[in-house]
Amino acid sequence: MCGDAFSLPDTGLGGPSDLIYDSGCFHHLPPHRRVSYLALLERHLAPGGRFGIVCFADGAMGSDLSDAELYRQGGLDGGLAYSAQSLRGIFGDLTEIELRRMRDEPPDSSCFGEPFLWAGLFGRDH
Ligand SMILES: C[S@@+](CC[C@H](N)C(=O)[O-])C[C@H]1O[C@@H](n2cnc3c(N)ncnc32)[C@H](O)[C@@H]1O
Repeated sequence: MCGDAFSLPDTGLGGPSDLIYDSGCFHHLPPHRRVSYLALLERHLAPGGRFGIVCFADGAMGSDLSDAELYRQGGLDGGLAYSAQSLRGIFGDLTEIELRRMRDEPPDSSCFGEPFLWAGLFGRDH
């Protein structure tokens, strides 16, 4: 299904999901959307479920401007960079399982891997 994650119609699949994986979407959201993003997770991630995220790492890719500077400037500057600390804060209601920089993969690899990204895995306990 392709659509705005914030206004998806009922998938008909029922119930919350055991796994939600965000590959590069979160860092394109404006700061005020974090609240509705967390509400989306709360609504759709099952207790005991896992949340995986890949996003721009601070100092490596994306904008390192503060939220206030971004709003002052009036744009997302190509995407927002996050520090490990800020991700831990934002997803603090979840349990961190692993948060590390993505492993680099050579161009001929069958896997995707870019070290300018965070690769995070969090769990929902209850
Ligand atoms: C950097 S691309 C990542 C594309 C792909 N997931 C990948 O990993 O290669 C960011 C993607 O986030 C999508 N996106 C941004 N805001 C979204 C939203 N509100 N709902 C769904 N997708 C969104 C964009 O359409 C774009 O395809």
